[in-house]
Amino acid sequence: MAEIRFDGRVAIVTGAGHGIGRMYALELAARGAKVVVNDLGGARDGAGADQSAADQVVAEITAAGGEAVANYDSVATMKGGANIVQTAVDAYGKVDILVNNAGILRDKSFLKMSEEEWDLVIAVHLKGAFCVTQPAVKLMKAANYGRVIFTSSTSGLYGNFGQCNYGAAKMGLVGIMNTLKLEIANYNIKVNTIAPTAYSRMTSDIFPPEFEKKLNPQFNAPMVLYLASEENDVSGMIYVMGAGWYGRTAVVSGKGVCIGNGIREIHPEEIRDHFQQVNSLAETKPHASGANIFEYMTPLVSK
Ligand code: NAI
Repeated sequence: MAEIRFDGRVAIVTGAGHGIGRMYALELAARGAKVVVNDLGGARDGAGADQSAADQVVAEITAAGGEAVANYDSVATMKGGANIVQTAVDAYGKVDILVNNAGILRDKSFLKMSEEEWDLVIAVHLKGAFCVTQPAVKLMKAANYGRVIFTSSTSGLYGNFGQCNYGAAKMGLVGIMNTLKLEIANYNIKVNTIAPTAYSRMTSDIFPPEFEKKLNPQFNAPMVLYLASEENDVSGMIYVMGAGWYGRTAVVSGKGVCIGNGIREIHPEEIRDHFQQVNSLAETKPHASGANIFEYMTPLVSK
C-alpha cells in the first residue's frame, strides 16, 4: 500500500486546538505536512480566548518531529481569515490544504433562539468558512493546486433538536461548496464537505460516556487526510462518518412527474392527484450543478 504523504505541503486546520481538528493537525504533520494550527481557544459556546490551545498542539507536533506554527485569530472575520492565511504564507510560503473545522455551539429550540445565539453560530461556522477559504483559494488558484474541506454536520444535513442556528450554518457550507466546486474546477482545486462524529467537548454532554472510546476523534482523520491528499480527485462531495464508518451522502432529486403540456395552467388538484410521483424518491439522482435540473423539464420546455 503506497503511503499517503504530505511532504512539501502546507496545511491550515482551523479550530485545531481541541477535538477533531487537533487530530487532523497531528496526523497531517506526522505525514510530512507543515501545519498552521489555528485556534481562538474560546469555550464551547465561543466565549473567551486562550492561546494555549493552539500552542499545545504545536508543541505536540514539534515534539514528534513535525513542523507547525500557531495562529490565534478567530475565523469569524475577514481580518481573522486573512491573518490565518498570512500565517501560512509567512511561515511556509503557500497554502495547499485548508480544513475548515472551527466550531461552537449555542443550542436553543427554535422558538427560544435569540438573535445573538443565531448570529454567533452563523458567524463562526458559515461566515468563518468564507473568511478563511476566500484568501486561501486565491493562493491555490494562482498555484493551480489546492484541497479544501468544509465541516458540516448531520444536524444540518438531516436535523437535530435545538440546533436550528448550527444546522443552518452547517447546511450553508454545502451551499458554499456547491458553488465553489464549479468556480475552481479548472484550477486543480478539490473542495469537499465532511460531517464527522466524535466524542469531544462539543458532544461530551450529548453522547453517553461509554461512547468516548467508540467515537474516537481519530476515526475522522483518515477521511479528511485522504480528501486533502494529491490522490483525491473528487470534488463537491459530502461524506458522513463516525466510529470507523464512512459513507457518502448527497442532495438528490426524484424523477418526479411532468404535468400539463408546457403551455396550459396547472392546478393544485393536479399536484394532489400526482403527489405519489412528486413525492417519490424511488429513482433518485445527485446533480453536478443546479442547471442539471432542467433535464427533468425537457419534455415540457422543448415543446
Ligand atoms: P471542539 O469544541 O472540541 O473543537 C472546536 C475547536 O474550534 C475548539 O478548539 C475551539 O477553540 C475552536 N474555535 C471555536 N471558535 C473558533 C473561532 N472563531 N476561530 C478559531 N477557532 C475556533 O469540537 P469538535 O467536536 O472537535 O468539532 C470540530 C468540528 O466538527 C466543528 O465544526 C463541529 O461543529 C463539527 N462537528 C462535530 C461533531 C462531533 O460529533 N463532535 C458532529 C458534527 C460536526
